Amino acid sequence: MPTFRSTNPARPAEVVTELPMHTAADVDTAVQRAADAQRAWADRPIPERAEAVAAVGAVLVARKAELADLVSREAGKIRVEGGGEVQEAIDMAAFVAGQGRSSMGEVVPSEMHSKLAWTTRIPVGVVGMITPWNFPVAIPSWKIFPALLAGNGVVMKPSELAPACGVAFVDACIEAGIPAELLQVVHGGAEPAAALAVHPGVGAVSFTGSVGTGRKVAASAMAVGPKLVSLELGGKNAMVVLDDADLDLVVDGALFGAFGSAGQRCTSTSRLILQRGISAAVIERLVERVRALRLGDPLHATTDVGPVITADSAGRIVAMVEAAVGEGATAAIGGRRRDDVEGCEGGSFVEPTVLIGVKPAHTVAREEVFGPVLSVIEVDDLDEAVAVVNSVEFGLSAAVYTRDINAALRGVHAIDTGITYVNAPTIGAEIPLPFGGTKHTGNGFREAGSRGIEQFSQVKTIYIDYSGRLQRAQIDNRED
Ligand code: UN1
Repeated sequence: MPTFRSTNPARPAEVVTELPMHTAADVDTAVQRAADAQRAWADRPIPERAEAVAAVGAVLVARKAELADLVSREAGKIRVEGGGEVQEAIDMAAFVAGQGRSSMGEVVPSEMHSKLAWTTRIPVGVVGMITPWNFPVAIPSWKIFPALLAGNGVVMKPSELAPACGVAFVDACIEAGIPAELLQVVHGGAEPAAALAVHPGVGAVSFTGSVGTGRKVAASAMAVGPKLVSLELGGKNAMVVLDDADLDLVVDGALFGAFGSAGQRCTSTSRLILQRGISAAVIERLVERVRALRLGDPLHATTDVGPVITADSAGRIVAMVEAAVGEGATAAIGGRRRDDVEGCEGGSFVEPTVLIGVKPAHTVAREEVFGPVLSVIEVDDLDEAVAVVNSVEFGLSAAVYTRDINAALRGVHAIDTGITYVNAPTIGAEIPLPFGGTKHTGNGFREAGSRGIEQFSQVKTIYIDYSGRLQRAQIDNRED
């Protein structure tokens, strides 16, 4: 069977893993196995399934350091972010385990005598998951735990750029007692992904990645469906800063939001929208702080910014910066690829970059960069800032920095995103609340929170009539 390798983006000569390139036939086998195991799993009471998820959390706690190192090696995240990623999965296990002992539906008073009416959630069978490299442990946990709680089997295809993280996560699940047959992993690129999306045994498809691929996955799944298709796609996240904001807070937030994970979070801050009164001061302070950021091996404690995921990605990011300069923007700092990072031969590093003089119409202000590039756009007031925030096709995350409560709430009200922060950067979404976006960021489903399970289950409405006679439908019994 042909194989492929994943490598350390900081040192591509270092192979992290070598795995088989699976075909559509392998996907078929995986789906059958998961489907066979699913029947017994779905028979277990929900609290029992929840306990199995809690047990995974305990294994992840024990393996946190080892998994965090792997995330750093394979996805290029600095070590603290590798640890944060595993922590997100630990927290998700705790949250989902708790959901197993909470309400799964609604109970309403029946419209008729001697009748009960309520809803519950039922599994879809097997869920196909196509997961990204940028959160190669956390995002599988967002999908796998609720899918298992809902009583499903799973076939996951992790990104071919960070598959070892996906394998390690699934191994932790199996070590904790999740039946191995229930939780299948297939590897490779477009072929297994496409096969999973259209497999008749897959009842729901959950995809996180680019808009282009998401559209293809959804279209092909629906063409043979309908099935549940949940999409978590791009972002063009903006931080709005009004003249009265606390500028220390702003600079800390922009730095973390834009350059954390080398700008490769779905929620990374990509646009910094500054009211003119403070723009020069913010830019000056920000550039000073960016100058002090240290590129380096993600595993070293002194590194602030690691590599981007591949050399291709670095090339694409730098080309976007160059195109922005061509359109009239200026790199206040950064903008180049770096191949002189110590101990990281061939690593795909891009300098943290602040572009100033960006206009809302520039390509760099509209398209997702997915790299350490922050575009600064100046505006006159909150209304203009909101118009700029909302002018893009994405609607994942946004932030408003101000000390004026009325302005903050006007911003929160008018900004069209799935997640909106006040005086905090565009990243930092918490587990118990829904994660996802409006417009082309998604198709209305949300991950995490109490609604996370909706992607992986169907609602069943149940009526029980204990009158002992035909009561007909409630609408057909009225005299008027
Ligand atoms: C992502 O942005 O791709 O908010 C996921 C955060 C994390 C998850 C982000 N809880 O930074």
